[in-house]
Amino acid sequence: MDITVFKIEAARAALSYVEDGMRLGIGSGSTAEEFVKLLAERVEGGLNVIGVPTSERTAALCVKLGVPLSSLDELPELDLTIDGADEVDADLSLIKGGGGALLREKIVAAASARMIVIADRSKRVATLGAFPLPIEVNRFGVKASELAIHRAAAALGLSGPLVLRMRDGAPFLTDGGHFIIDASFGRIPDPRALSGALHEIPGVVEHGLFLGMASAAVLAGPDGIETLSRAPQNKEFPQS
Ligand code: A5P
Repeated sequence: MDITVFKIEAARAALSYVEDGMRLGIGSGSTAEEFVKLLAERVEGGLNVIGVPTSERTAALCVKLGVPLSSLDELPELDLTIDGADEVDADLSLIKGGGGALLREKIVAAASARMIVIADRSKRVATLGAFPLPIEVNRFGVKASELAIHRAAAALGLSGPLVLRMRDGAPFLTDGGHFIIDASFGRIPDPRALSGALHEIPGVVEHGLFLGMASAAVLAGPDGIETLSRAPQNKEFPQS
């Protein structure tokens, strides 16, 4: 069966978490785009929400479909972010950034009281790391950053190819104007240790490990919808 069906089912199920008047973080990637399409139908039907997009691409889709948008500068506190993921484990730790939007996705998720992940069931893993970890780096000194990432990973017993992401024969550029190094570690048994080590490297802008950010994951597969959840740990914002 076409996996798109499951992406749509997950997106549709997540709509039930959206309430009138919400300030919504709107994710990026193919599953998030299915969510935008369904959200636009609800907006057309009278739902009153305002969105903060996590990428230029998502912003363009929202504008095209009539989903009202604001910015994180206008709305620095959001009620809920709905976004896709490349991998989800049992603790709701994630790998994100397959589409290159990880920095804005993480900023928006961190500004949200809750983050709900939508994905097809194939994204559920026992241990993160089969999907190459996207690491966003400053364009300056990218070789030095790559070497530093290699050394930091090796100190944690991790190894594997580090590949500068390319598009159309040139390095892929994020919305923030940075490069991405995709790190194929295979397994990441201690994501928190790796996250800390990567953040120590000056050229690393951000990485695609989202730890302690998601409060639920809505996963759709041939057997229906599976919802993983845990008590929200994100900062709760005062109601305005
Ligand atoms: C975008 O940068 C990513 O974080 C996406 O959320 C992630 O790659 C999931 O994308 P799909 O929904 O297209 O699989």
